[in-house]
This record gives sequence, structure tokens and C-alpha cells, in this order.
Amino acid sequence: MKKPLIVGNWKMNLNTSQASLLAQRLHENIKLHRDIEIVLAPSMLSLQPLSTQIDERKFKLAAQDAYYKDEGAFTGEVSFTMLRDLVEYVIIGHSERRIFFSESLDIVRDKVAACVRNEITPILCVGETRQERRAGETRQVLHDQIMSGLANLTDKEVANMVIAYEPVWAISTFDGELAKPDEIQRQFGFIRNQIKELYGAKAVDTFRLLYGGSVDDQVVGGYLELDGCDGVLVGGASLNYKKFAGIVSAADRLIHKPVGAKGG
Ligand code: PGA
Repeated sequence: MKKPLIVGNWKMNLNTSQASLLAQRLHENIKLHRDIEIVLAPSMLSLQPLSTQIDERKFKLAAQDAYYKDEGAFTGEVSFTMLRDLVEYVIIGHSERRIFFSESLDIVRDKVAACVRNEITPILCVGETRQERRAGETRQVLHDQIMSGLANLTDKEVANMVIAYEPVWAISTFDGELAKPDEIQRQFGFIRNQIKELYGAKAVDTFRLLYGGSVDDQVVGGYLELDGCDGVLVGGASLNYKKFAGIVSAADRLIHKPVGAKGG
């Protein structure tokens, strides 16, 4: 297993003082893990203050989105260029952006390219809706989102990026439908094959693949244990410092599990 990557997507929650408080609680409850990468994605407004508050050995920052033009008359937008000294990652193509803000495949593609151009690592989100899943279109959707999202990148650029598989029907369903790890395993296999076919063996070895969709401290182990799972993208549970710290502990237990031991 590569160094696990755990990303907390705070979405449109918490004002700057609430965000600062959560960061403080996370600092108190998560110890320094040199072999786990922990990334916080607060609102755009909180990135700057958190960048001076967090212990950079423990936490890195991500933006939840950015615009693909570097500068200009685009009222309300923030560019990757503006973010490049502030964040290590940007989440791109989250299903909430694709659905609520009509982000097309082309827009997502341009954002990924702008992210790479600005030397920030993209976390490209892909995943099918419930309707697409019912219609048996999952693989077609994943294929299209991956093909177009990575369209302008070289093999080497793909090798450095992160893809988060987030089935839309499994996002924020905590008390409802959870994705079964064996179903995720099959789609992981499909995504890895796509990367291998399109970008070669080196890219598939080094790009990182995350799972996202109602991950909390109780269920995270089942996903992290999947073959080829390099970490998780966490929404709701990342707003609760105990749950988020529990997710980090689960990853820690997994990487330090004696070789050959099962379950946990
Ligand atoms: P969730 O969100 O953990 O609340 O399901 C995940 C995401 O949307 O990234």
C-alpha cells in the first residue's frame, strides 16, 4: 500500500472561526503520522487563515474547486494561479459541481489541465449517478469522465495525480445505502485498467486512487483494505473531529498491521 491519503472535504460548511476551531480540534486529536498524508479542504474563505494556523507536518490544504482561466474578467471566480502557493491539491469535478453547477466534461478537463499547469495536484472525482447505475451505464460514465478529464495530460502528469471514485448514489447516505466494498473493488479494477491502457504501466503504478461516499470511522477499514485503494475522500464525517481522527487511526492500524494478518 502507498502512503494513504485522507482528504476531508468540508464542502460549504463552517465560517472562518468555526473552521479554525475544527482545525484546532483536529490538531489536538491527530498525532503526527509521517506515513499518512492528511489533507483538509475548507471553503475558499478559510484557506488563507488555515494556511497560517495548521501544522504543516500534519496537514496539507486543498481547495474544493477553482476556475481554469489564470486571471481576467471572471466575476466571482478564483484561479488555480491564485491558489498555487496556498494549496497542494484541488478537488475537481466533484459530483455536486457536475450536477448543481452544470460542470461539463469539457470544463472539468480544462480545470484539470489548469491545475497541473499551476503545479497543483488534481483530485479528479468520477462516479455514476443512481440512474446511470440502474441503467447499467457505470463503466461508460467512468470511461467518459476519465478519458475527458485526463485528455490534455502526459503519462507523467497522470502518474502524479489523484482520482477519487465517488459513486453519486453512495454520497452522504450514512443511514441509507452504503457501497459494498466488493462492488467498489470491481470499479477500482476498471479504473486502473483504463489508466494502464491509456497512460501505461508506470502511470498506473504511481497515480493514487481514493474511495469516497459516506466514509466514516466505522466503515473506512473495509474500503482502505481494498486492493489498490490509496485512501479516502471524506465529506460529512470530516466535519466531526472524533470521526475524522478515527478514520486516520484506522489507516494507521492498517499500515502497521502485521504482514499476513486479516481483518481488523
Ligand atoms: P460524504 O461525501 O462522505 O458526506 O458522503 C463525500 C464527498 O462528497 O466527497
